[in-house]
Amino acid sequence: QPPNFQGEGNSLLRRDYCRAKGGAPGFKVAILGAAGGIGQPLGLLMKMNPLVSVLHLYDVVNTPGVTADISHMDTGAVVRGFLGPSQLESALTGIDLVIIPAGVPRKPGMTRDDLFNINAGIVKTLSEGIAKCCPNAIVNLISNPVNSTVAVAAEVFKKAGTYDPKRLFGVTMLDVVRANTFVAEVLGLDPREVDVPVVGGHAGVTILPLLSQVKPPSSFTVEEIEYLTTRIQDGGTEVVQAKGGGGSATLSMAYSAVKFADACLRGLRGDAGVVECAFVASEVTELPFFSTKVRLGRTGAEEIYQLGPLNEYERIGLEKAKKELAESIQKGISFIRK
Ligand code: NAD
Ligand code: LMR
Repeated sequence: QPPNFQGEGNSLLRRDYCRAKGGAPGFKVAILGAAGGIGQPLGLLMKMNPLVSVLHLYDVVNTPGVTADISHMDTGAVVRGFLGPSQLESALTGIDLVIIPAGVPRKPGMTRDDLFNINAGIVKTLSEGIAKCCPNAIVNLISNPVNSTVAVAAEVFKKAGTYDPKRLFGVTMLDVVRANTFVAEVLGLDPREVDVPVVGGHAGVTILPLLSQVKPPSSFTVEEIEYLTTRIQDGGTEVVQAKGGGGSATLSMAYSAVKFADACLRGLRGDAGVVECAFVASEVTELPFFSTKVRLGRTGAEEIYQLGPLNEYERIGLEKAKKELAESIQKGISFIRK
């Protein structure tokens, strides 16, 4: 049996795929890169999300096994697997939210930008599929370098005439998750009580934690600010080095991806006051994309918040972040326009 229609047409099954597609409450979600280090735990966690009625798992390898495994979980979402480019369109048709962790991860000594040549091509192909099969879907892009791949996807959508800047998000939630954890350690609080806005982008100095805006309101010494800013900016490298060639963050990333995807789905459902940081088309700075707090709603990014008051340390950080971000965004744009 092809992996995408396990069980379909089996008259013994009263609850089949087609019924779930037609009638079950909830949203249809696709994960592209579903057999990878992030994709597998992400699939597991999305299968547990009550807002998901149908979960499509697409990859160029190993989706039959991952799909069979996850589909046995006794949670509501119906799971189907799709293998290889010939099944990409089936994987995407009718989908409300596409999450993309497809692409190669870093090894020690590499920057995220070193992944550009391979991952930009992957994101281009997948974005072309989205433009064709689910042009109105919300897209959560995880593949690095996020600072460039978001521009790649935007240019593909523009070319196809389907671009809606409110629906395309670079996922920077892991920076917020790390910031909440590290700040909570310093303050001696439970991380669940801490909210740290992290703005800019998702690489090195472009990751700008706004420690002056931490909730609950807190003050930090100069040493604490330098320790926290560096640790948050280098969080990804810390994991890459600890894994010693075995890849980059996968488990904390899957957790973060689900946290952001769940916020997008709650927004789509019409919940009020859903606000998270993400890398989006923005007029907050002179750059075409920038990560700030965003209010998520039925149409995607419904409100993009300003940066708020910055202290001197953050203003200097912002200038450094914008310089690097401008080049990374341009690299993504040129990849498609060249
Ligand atoms: P991985 O190598 O374990 O998994 C990637 C998966 O993508 C593999 O299963 C591979 O088969 C699949 N893939 C490759 N080409 C594909 C294509 N054309 N279509 C569909 N699937 C394809 O890597 P990983 O650890 O899961 O990381 C994936 C990406 O996420 C990397 O680029 C990594 O840098 C990035 N990442 C981003 C963040 C973030 O905060 N945004 C955090 C961690 C990792
Ligand atoms: C992360 O922040 O963990 C990811 O961007 C992966 C990486 O390469 O650091």
